[in-house]
Amino acid sequence: MYILLMGPPGAGKGTQAEKLVETYKIPHISTGDMFRAAVKQGTELGKEAKKYMDAGGLVPDVVTIGIVREGLSKPECAKGFILDGFPRTEEQAVALDGILNDLGIKLTGVVNIVVPDGELVSRVTGRRICKACGATYHVSFNPTKVEGVCDKCSGSLYQRDDDKEETVKNRLKAYHSQTEPLIEYYKKQGVYLEIDGTQAIDKVYADVKASLEERA
Ligand code: AP5
Ligand code: ZN
Repeated sequence: MYILLMGPPGAGKGTQAEKLVETYKIPHISTGDMFRAAVKQGTELGKEAKKYMDAGGLVPDVVTIGIVREGLSKPECAKGFILDGFPRTEEQAVALDGILNDLGIKLTGVVNIVVPDGELVSRVTGRRICKACGATYHVSFNPTKVEGVCDKCSGSLYQRDDDKEETVKNRLKAYHSQTEPLIEYYKKQGVYLEIDGTQAIDKVYADVKASLEERA
């Protein structure tokens, strides 16, 4: 399965990716996670990316395309992958077509998780993530059994720097102006799959899995 996950901030891309990884045992490539790891390590890439992430804008295409090319070229991606949060601009989408063409890979499907803006702000501001294993929770919609403690590994939870209300609003603006037009791009390629992301997490997953398996 060669899966691309699309959708606005807080739509549930990371949440669904975790489940897809468990089912299909294929790597999860998230540009957001890669940038956050670089920020944590204090690398040059991290310092550059942080400026854009803190403002809720997009990291420049040339930087982002480079890290995705490197990620997808790894041998563990040859049998499948879940690409999450990329592409986000038309330039990135065109670059991805070139990368996949070079690797001889055709996408199984582009899954767009659709959620209206009104629901996204509360999803993002209530999100909590495990420091140790990266699992994603929500204080109301997907709480841990013990507050602040990961169900899977007992690690402690944290909130992302860019999950403040003001930044989320900027991220939504960037999504609508730069990323949403890619829906047409993938419809034209005949690989576009749309999922109602307002349903319960397990129902969203059932729909994602069924729509991909129809195409595999
Ligand atoms: P990135 O990390 O990709 O963030 P994002 O796209 O804004 O998406 P999120 O991670 O916020 O949301 P998600 O859809 O994964 O939702 P989740 O599953 O966590 O990017 C961050 C930044 O990096 C960007 O702003 C940009 O600066 C930079 N960047 C990254 N990629 C780039 C690129 N290609 N080009 C340029 N710059 C790039 O769910 C959210 C919450 O809702 C959770 O708490 C979850 O528990 C809950 N939830 C999930 N599903 C449901 C449900 N069905 N019902 C109720 N609650 C739910
Ligand atoms: Zn954990």
